[in-house]
Amino acid sequence: MACLFLFLIVCSSCLESGFGFAFRSEGSPLMKLKEVQHGEGSFWHITDLHLDSSYQESAKPRNVCLTSLGLPVTDAGPFGSHLCDSPWKLVHSALERMRALFPHPDFLIWTGDSPPHLPVGDLSTAAVLDTMRNFTSAILTAFPNTLVFPALGNHDYWPQDQMPGNVCEVYSKVGQMWKEWLTDEALATFKRGGFYTQLVPWNHTQDSTPLRIVSLNTVLYYKPDHSTAGLVDPGGQLAWLKGVLSAAQRDGEKVYVIAHVPPGVDPWHNTTFYNPATNERYLSILRTFADVIVTQMYGHMHNDCFRVLRDTAGTAVGSVFLAPAITPWKPNNGKIASPLANNPGFRLYKYSHEDYGILDLWQYFLNLTDANLKRFADWHIEYKMAATYNLKDLRPHSLAQLAKRLEEPHGKAFALYFKYFLVSFSPNLPCVDCCQWIHACAVNFLDHTAYQRCLAQHRQTERLPSGCFAR
Ligand SMILES: *[C@@H]1O[C@H](CO)[C@@H](O)[C@H](O)[C@H]1NC(C)=O
Ligand SMILES: *[C@@H]1O[C@H](CO)[C@@H](O)[C@H](O)[C@H]1NC(C)=O
Ligand SMILES: *[C@@H]1O[C@H](CO)[C@@H](O)[C@H](O)[C@H]1NC(C)=O
Ligand SMILES: *[C@@H]1O[C@H](CO)[C@@H](O)[C@H](O)[C@H]1NC(C)=O
Repeated sequence: MACLFLFLIVCSSCLESGFGFAFRSEGSPLMKLKEVQHGEGSFWHITDLHLDSSYQESAKPRNVCLTSLGLPVTDAGPFGSHLCDSPWKLVHSALERMRALFPHPDFLIWTGDSPPHLPVGDLSTAAVLDTMRNFTSAILTAFPNTLVFPALGNHDYWPQDQMPGNVCEVYSKVGQMWKEWLTDEALATFKRGGFYTQLVPWNHTQDSTPLRIVSLNTVLYYKPDHSTAGLVDPGGQLAWLKGVLSAAQRDGEKVYVIAHVPPGVDPWHNTTFYNPATNERYLSILRTFADVIVTQMYGHMHNDCFRVLRDTAGTAVGSVFLAPAITPWKPNNGKIASPLANNPGFRLYKYSHEDYGILDLWQYFLNLTDANLKRFADWHIEYKMAATYNLKDLRPHSLAQLAKRLEEPHGKAFALYFKYFLVSFSPNLPCVDCCQWIHACAVNFLDHTAYQRCLAQHRQTERLPSGCFAR
C-alpha cells in the first residue's frame, strides 16, 4: 500500500484527465483505481470472436478456411467471409479500432466463444485452450490498463457445449489465464464451475454505490449440454447466485449480470436456449432481485437484439442486451450465401455513475464486403440506440416502450430493429408478418408460455407457417 501511495503522489500529474490508472502487483489482478466520477461512464462489450486461424485468401475457394466445412469460398478477402470464422486480421482490426476509439473504458466485458465452429473431431481441449490463451493476450495487449470481465461460452470447451458443473481442466487452466483480471476469490468459484463475482474495484467515496459484476456459466443450462441434463442446479450456481444477490441487496450494491447463452427464446427455433425448467427458475431469480440487477449482457446469437424482463403484472423490471458477434460466420446449411448473416460488430455502453443504469449503446460495425473490397477495415458507428429510437435512456422502462413499438405491424421501429439485428448485412431485407412476430414476441417475453401466447395473439390475424422458424 505504501508503495501505491508513493506512486499516486509521484505519478498524479501523469494521469490522463480523470481516468485514473492501473497497476499490477504480484499475485493480484489488474486493478483499476479511480475516483467514481459523477455523470456518465462507458465500457466495451465484445463477444463471439470465434477464431479460424486456418483462414487464408486463397485463389482456391476450397482452401480458404476450415470452417466453411468444404463449401467453396468465392468472396475471400483479407478480413474474412460469411462462410468462415474470424481470421486473425479481423480480430486485430477490431481490437485496434476499439483501442483507438476509447483506450480507457471503465472496464471491458468479453462474453465468450473463442474457438472455431468445427466438428468435434477436428478440435481438442488443447486447441480450445490455445485459442483462448491467444485471445486473452491479444486483449491484454490492446487494453493493458483495463479490467476485463470475461464469461465462458459454449464453444470454450471440448467437446463443445458439454461443460460440467464441477472442476475440470478447462476451468482450471482458463482461470490461470485470467488471473490478471480476477481476484483470488473470483478464481476460486471459477475453477469450481466457470462462474464468479467481483466488485468493480473503484476507490469509492463513502456515499457511492458499489458496482458488482456477476459472470455466470449459463452453458450449464444450454439444451445441448448433456453433462448437466436432468440436474436441478448444476454446479450449485443458482443457489450461489441467490446468495450473491442477497448479499448485494443487503450491502446496497448494484449488479450487472454477464454470461454467454442468454435466457429467453431463440426466435429462429421456437424454443428457449436453456432447458425450459431452468429458464423459468433463472427468470424467477432475476425477478426476485430486480431491484439489485441493473441489467444483463450476453452474446451467443451473433445478432444484435435485446429483451425486456417483465414481472407477473407485465411491468418491465429488467433489461437483457445481446451483443452481435465479431465473427461473420453463419451456419450455412449447405447453402452458399444467406441474407441472414451478420456483419462483425462490437459495442460501447454508456451508463450512469450514480445508479449504473444504461443510458445508451453505441454499436460499431465493419461492412465486411466493403472492407474486403478496399482492403481496409473501416470500423465505424452503425447506430446509437437511444437517439435512433428516440428513447430517453436504455433503462427497462424505456426499453419496454420500444419493445411494444416493435409489435406494430409494418412499423418503422421494427424495420430498424431487424436491419440492426443483422448488423446491417441485409439492410433492406423485409421481415414482416410471422417473421416480425417471432422476433417482436421474443423481445417482449422471456418465458416460453408467455412467448407462445404472444404468437397466438398475432396468429388471430396471421397464420404462422412453420417456415418462419427455419433459418
Ligand atoms: C497461438 O499463439 C501461439 C504462440 O504464438 C501460436 O504458436 C499458435 O499457433 C496460436 N494459435 C492460434 C490458434 O492462433
Ligand atoms: C481514495 O480516495 C480518497 C479520497 O478521494 C483518497 O484520499 C485516497 O488516497 C484514495 N485511495 C487510493 C488507494 O487511491
Ligand atoms: C457495404 O459495402 C458495400 C460495398 O461497398 C455497399 O454496396 C453496401 O451498401 C454497404 N452496406 C452498408 C449497410 O453500408
Ligand atoms: C412452437 O412451440 C410450441 C410449444 O413448444 C408448439 O406448441 C408450437 O406448435 C410450435 N410452433 C411451431 C410453428 O412449430
